[in-house]
Amino acid sequence: MAFLADALSRVKPSATIAVSQKARDLKAKGRDVIGLGAGEPDFDTPDNIKKAAIDAINRGETKYTPVAGIPELRAAIVAKFKRENGLDYTPAQTIVGTGGKQILFNAFMATLNAGDEVIVPAPYWVSYPEMVALCGGTPVFVSTKQENNFKLTAEDLEKAITPKTKWFIFNSPSNPSGAAYSHDELKALTDVLVRHEHVWVLTDDMYEHLTYGDFKFVTPVEIEPKLYDRTLTMNGVSKAYAMTGWRIGYAAGPLPLIKAMDMIQGQQTSGACSIAQWAAVEALNGTQDFIPENKKIFEGRRDLVVSMLNQATGIVCPKPEGAFYVYPSCAGLIGKTAPSGKVIETDEDFVSELLETEGVAVVHGSAFGLGPNFRISYATSEELLEEACKRIQRFAAACK
Ligand SMILES: Cc1ncc(COP(=O)(O)O)c(C=O)c1O
Repeated sequence: MAFLADALSRVKPSATIAVSQKARDLKAKGRDVIGLGAGEPDFDTPDNIKKAAIDAINRGETKYTPVAGIPELRAAIVAKFKRENGLDYTPAQTIVGTGGKQILFNAFMATLNAGDEVIVPAPYWVSYPEMVALCGGTPVFVSTKQENNFKLTAEDLEKAITPKTKWFIFNSPSNPSGAAYSHDELKALTDVLVRHEHVWVLTDDMYEHLTYGDFKFVTPVEIEPKLYDRTLTMNGVSKAYAMTGWRIGYAAGPLPLIKAMDMIQGQQTSGACSIAQWAAVEALNGTQDFIPENKKIFEGRRDLVVSMLNQATGIVCPKPEGAFYVYPSCAGLIGKTAPSGKVIETDEDFVSELLETEGVAVVHGSAFGLGPNFRISYATSEELLEEACKRIQRFAAACK
């Protein structure tokens, strides 16, 4: 009898964590490495949020909380959905988890049976297919195209739906491409979904507040109220409020699903950290002034990176609407010989040669299900981004 569970054979470790670790290892050996792999803002959590956590500790808010979250946070979530998305939920229709990750995992755990299919547009956030597989479901990948700015078309969605489809995962702005769907682009997808009543929608709105220019964020139920009874709208404080380490995510959706997720969480982690929940109350209810300030900084970085990458030989970089990632193609370098003498056959070869030669850590596109591309996280200073892009230009020019 094998000791480890069969389920383990269905998952692989996170490629993004592996790249960050490789960059750390090289740095420890004294190499000058610029890490552009991490998916977290480089800003500190705003002071008003930190203070709310300190106040919570001093008030003794240090005990177990209700599994689905403290009433104050569930009320703040209800208010957030109404204020920002025009959506009506009751507190009972909300749930707080230990990061957005736990929300997603428990939604799959609560609903997937063997053979159930989950549509995952590619490129995708690395954890979606692994979570689906761990929970016994089957991820069904639908590739997008760079010429469509990595956005799924209605036709491709329609073709992917089968009688076994349980969920469609939607993520806009996207990790890893940064692509965000406009009202009309999303309406084309919701028109398809309305016709397939057995398909549920899991919308991951984690990057809602990180969109640039005059782009207007929209979420599926806002556009198509008919999807209200079969959509789980997930969000969190990690990215918009620079709170990745606090581990608070949340969702709202139909009561029976929320109750099932609550039951699973009750036998798992129980309520999220009490102090972090109080910090999240302040994040959602308090001043939002730093959001436009941070957006401006991210937008400047995006423009810098897109412009510099498009000046590199063999690299083509679309300009995404949101998040803090770009997802350029390195197709023009496939088949060329790197300065080390190695022929670049895949995007994985490209990123590993780039790291060895120039000390720039990025993540290969095949880890996100679509290549030959690579993902750059621009959540770091302009100075470092400029230096990293110069190195990428030099590396690309040296490939013959
Ligand atoms: C698209 C997407 N969804 C969800 C998450 C998870 O967020 P959290 O840190 O709240 O678990 C991430 C984090 O990288 C993400 O990129």
